[in-house]
Parts: sequence; C-alpha cells; structure tokens
Amino acid sequence: MQYKTVQQHQRLGIEVLQGCNLMQLTDQQVQEFKKSLWEHGVIVVRQQHLTASQLKEFAQQTFGYSRLGRQQPKPNDPEIDPNLLSPGVHILGNPKGHTQEIVGKFAWQWHHDKDHLPKTEGLDMNALYVVMLYGVEIPQGVDGQPHTTEFLDMIEAYNNFEPEHQRQLESMNMYHLSPVFSESESDVPMKVHPIVSTHKVTGHKGLYLGSDTSIPVGMEEKPESAKQFWQELFETVLDRTPVFAHVWQPGDIVFWDNSQVMHTGTPYDATQYKRVALRLGVVDNTYV
Ligand SMILES: [Fe+2]
Repeated sequence: MQYKTVQQHQRLGIEVLQGCNLMQLTDQQVQEFKKSLWEHGVIVVRQQHLTASQLKEFAQQTFGYSRLGRQQPKPNDPEIDPNLLSPGVHILGNPKGHTQEIVGKFAWQWHHDKDHLPKTEGLDMNALYVVMLYGVEIPQGVDGQPHTTEFLDMIEAYNNFEPEHQRQLESMNMYHLSPVFSESESDVPMKVHPIVSTHKVTGHKGLYLGSDTSIPVGMEEKPESAKQFWQELFETVLDRTPVFAHVWQPGDIVFWDNSQVMHTGTPYDATQYKRVALRLGVVDNTYV
C-alpha cells in the first residue's frame, strides 16, 4: 500500500520534557507528561540513559504498572548487557549483533498493540494501553534512509470520513484476537469492540481496527469477506491520512497510546546493523 509520510505532524510525535531525566520528574511534570500523551497519542522524550529496571520503575510511578501477560523472569544471558535486562521488559532487535535471522517482522504491519488485552477481563479494547519503546542502538533503515517507526492518527482517520460513512461505521463492531500464535484458534478468546471508539480521557471519537485478523460482527463465517472489508477500510484510511514517521535517535523513548493510534515497525538489515530497543507495555490504572 502506498502512502504519504511526514516527519512533522499536527498532533502526533511532539517532544516533551526537553532536557529532563525521566527518573527525576516532579509530580506536576508527570501529570503534564500524561496529559500530553492523551492529547497527542504519540510523544517522545529524548536523550535518556536508563536501565531496563529504571524504565520499569518509571512505568510503575507514572501509570501504576499493570502489565499484561506473562512475567516470568528468564535466565540472564551472559552475552547481553545486564542493564538491558529486567523481567517484563522486552529487548527488541539483535542485541547479540549481526544475524542472518529476520528479526521483528511481525511488527512490520499496521496494528494497534493489544498483547493480552482481548483476553484480560475488565478491559475494553480502548483501555489506556501505553507502549514505551526506548531506542538504545539504532540501525540504518533500508535504502540508506534513517530507521523509523510509523504512526497513524486514528482520530484524524475517523474525521476524514464523510458523515454518511462515519454513521455506517458507528453501527459496526469487530472481534479482536490476542496476537498469540502458539494457541489453537478455538482456545483463543475474542473481544468485541465498536469500530468507532471513544477515547477514555479526551472523549474524542476514532477508529479502532486492531489488526487485519479482526473480524466484523456478522462476518464470522466469511473470513475472506472479513479480510476484504478490513483491507478496503484500511486502504481508505491510508489514502486520506498522512503517516507520521518517527526518526529514531539513540536515547529516544517513544510513548504511544494504542487506543488512538496504529503503528508499524520498519525493516532494517540485521546482517549489517545492530538494533537494541527496550519495550514495555502498561495499562494506565491511575486514571479514574
Ligand atoms: Fe507493535
């Protein structure tokens, strides 16, 4: 799918807390940080030097730290810097260096991160599920371009539809699956959510599409129609909505609110470049 990318966006990707160390924020700075996140959907804090444990500590202090999914600690790998290791914090990329393996390809498609959200009781798909991604070592992107992560503003996407199409979408719901590949399909619970979703803090309406495995209610028995519906709707979104590309610099931490943006990772050549990023996802449980 062809689309237009921009590196400056009217809403997404603003830099906040310039010159601050995330571990030394005042309560007021934390509150302003969160307000910016809900208002902008994607925010960036630059020039940080954190360990994995500190990233987790920041998450706990800021969002109340309710991670989704399994949290068993893995045995430490002596080839990996211990500062990058903390239970529940995932290392993305090729931290042991160049590799012939294809690394991270599941992220190279448009989606809302949802992890275990569809099978966690008491949480809607538009729960305030925040992912923080800390770029420690940044690879070169493809074709000599910088390495980026791309985001779509799903509130803008909704606003770009004609009123008649908006009304039609407002009457529709979709089933969402957890992105877990090891379980047989019959065991995987699904959660229903309206396509037009209301943000829990700002009240703005946006589209919640999940990923291309989402199934519109009524098309459960017609997988091909479901896929076609999703792809046509998503192509219309991409056709009308500019994509914000965050260009990575070492030390950046990008925070995004999955209830209002979609994103896709972009490939890099893992045989030539090293990428190290730390990822942590939390549901904000401090907002009432
Ligand atoms: Fe993702």
